[in-house]
Amino acid sequence: MCNENTVQSSILTANSSPNMREFIRLLVILMATVPVVTGVVTAEIIPPLRASGDEVALIFVPGAFLKGDQYRKTAQAIQEASELRVWAALTGGYDNDLANPSQLPGAIEGAIQALQQAGMASQSYVGVGHSLGGVYLGQYAENSQLKAIVLMGSFLSTKLRDYPLPVLTLASELDGQMRITRVVNDFEQLLHDVQQSEDAIYRTPVINIKGTNHMQFASGRKPPRVQQMDLQADVTEVEAHKLIGKHVNNFVTTLFSNVTDDVNIAKKQMDETFLESIIRFQPILDLKALQQTDGYCPWAILAQHFFAGNYSDVINVSSTILNLPNFIKSTPTIYVNNGTIEINSTAFINMEDDYQARPSVKQSPKEIQLKLITQPAMGRVIGIELDSSGKEPTCKSLNELALDVALNTSTEDAKHRYTIRGRQIYFEDDFITNSSKEWTSTSLNSWEDDVGLHVQSIALKTSTSDSAMYGETYYCKVMAPYRALEWVLIDSFRRT
Ligand SMILES: *[C@@H]1O[C@H](CO)[C@@H](O)[C@H](O)[C@H]1NC(C)=O
Ligand SMILES: *[C@@H]1O[C@H](CO)[C@@H](O)[C@H](O)[C@H]1NC(C)=O
Ligand SMILES: *[C@@H]1O[C@H](CO)[C@@H](O)[C@H](O)[C@H]1NC(C)=O
Ligand SMILES: *[C@@H]1O[C@H](CO)[C@@H](O)[C@H](O)[C@H]1NC(C)=O
Ligand SMILES: *[C@@H]1O[C@H](CO)[C@@H](O)[C@H](O)[C@H]1NC(C)=O
Ligand SMILES: *[C@@H]1O[C@H](CO)[C@@H](O)[C@H](O)[C@H]1NC(C)=O
Ligand SMILES: *[C@@H]1O[C@H](CO)[C@@H](O)[C@H](O)[C@H]1NC(C)=O
Repeated sequence: MCNENTVQSSILTANSSPNMREFIRLLVILMATVPVVTGVVTAEIIPPLRASGDEVALIFVPGAFLKGDQYRKTAQAIQEASELRVWAALTGGYDNDLANPSQLPGAIEGAIQALQQAGMASQSYVGVGHSLGGVYLGQYAENSQLKAIVLMGSFLSTKLRDYPLPVLTLASELDGQMRITRVVNDFEQLLHDVQQSEDAIYRTPVINIKGTNHMQFASGRKPPRVQQMDLQADVTEVEAHKLIGKHVNNFVTTLFSNVTDDVNIAKKQMDETFLESIIRFQPILDLKALQQTDGYCPWAILAQHFFAGNYSDVINVSSTILNLPNFIKSTPTIYVNNGTIEINSTAFINMEDDYQARPSVKQSPKEIQLKLITQPAMGRVIGIELDSSGKEPTCKSLNELALDVALNTSTEDAKHRYTIRGRQIYFEDDFITNSSKEWTSTSLNSWEDDVGLHVQSIALKTSTSDSAMYGETYYCKVMAPYRALEWVLIDSFRRT
């Protein structure tokens, strides 16, 4: 989002302390009883290009520190893309150029009045919110005169299918603030909803726009935070606006046009866009699933097979994801059952603080902690020593595998972009400790510099509780394949 130091993001923080809750309660009472002195929110009306056709009005709510006028080009691109009589109202002049819940209702109602005065006859009002403006718009629109909303580089705090209005979510592939890895959660919902009703593709589409960034939903001067956070786009602003125009037009045409042919064309294009978005969303969904599916950790199973070398064919691995206290207490188990080595390895997935409330925070885990069994233990329980490559697998080799998997899963375009302009990842040798206390208290070590990201795992070689043999288990704090993918898709392009 353009600005995160807001009451909004504090409220979104689920684990606010009692003091914080008290503060928010007082703030709410204060806001309700003391008239807030505010400036006048204005709405600039852009009349339609076309003389006839079904009417629709797009009422824009700007992102933080952006002026209403900075959406003029976006609005015009939508008008040009459409056969409808598209009106636009650009709201602006919010206090400190920050759209906010207390001024938003007046802003939208004022825009509707101005549209009517300018000659708009229909009731087809659509809210269009960018970034922070979209967050507030989503909350406000539920009980309003708006018939639908468009979110640009923003997100809904409600589930798509529970939201009372049609909502178009436009996400930029190279958005440095509203990470595409955050929007993918909404797309995942859409995939489920489509199974229930194919109409979800038209009612709550979630679109991954290729090559665009956060600022390209608007134009003009970038606020400092956008300057600092946003990624370099692959397409020009004009191209970006054209794509936005096409997607918004398809959405409003299916909702408000009475021309059957136009609606059919729009729906066909939305079908194609849905399929095209899958191409870029699927790798992210795949690597999310690789860290967690139905309570187990597929990556831990892969890692265990990787560690097993030539024993890989005779092991049957289960992997349980535990919470931290249980993970710390856990030990991986190994026993033989009818010629198969049964292994139960354990995993702990360590997410970033606050990642759910803050879409600019990395959505992949900080680290995955794994407790694995080594080949000597397998040889001992089965009584056969299989050939080994002579090289013991390391946590570092798992990190290298994670990047390999991330690159192999990425689209060719994403891989190419990373190869030519991304900063690379450097895997340092494992930090090996003999102290489980030290292992527990030391995090996966990663740091960035101009050349790229350095990653160093923490390894503990230890023994299973029922055998005193040193080196039968191997504990690793490793990089998640999803973290590697997030680096390839987003963070490798940031300047340091
Ligand atoms: C289009 O259809 C809506 C109802 O679906 C109706 O209210 C509106 O008047 C129609 N517009 C035109 C131009 O026919
Ligand atoms: C592997 O282990 C699971 C339980 O974790 C068991 O249900 C399954 O039958 C086992 N498969 C084989 C081939 O032994
Ligand atoms: C694996 O171990 C965990 C605890 O360490 C336990 O909760 C889980 O049930 C075990 N799974 C299997 C298949 O034995
Ligand atoms: C033991 O494994 C063999 C094949 O390896 C299988 O034919 C047999 O049914 C298994 N026995 C049991 C009790 O699972
Ligand atoms: C598996 O065994 C072969 C020889 O049988 C050996 O050359 C190879 O390195 C072993 N692979 C691993 C991963 O240990
Ligand atoms: C990734 O792709 C390369 C080239 O196709 C292949 O050699 C490698 O085994 C793949 N790695 C993984 C982990 O799938
Ligand atoms: C850890 O302990 C083992 C066995 O006691 C010893 O051989 C090894 O050198 C120790 N490693 C470190 C890094 O202290």
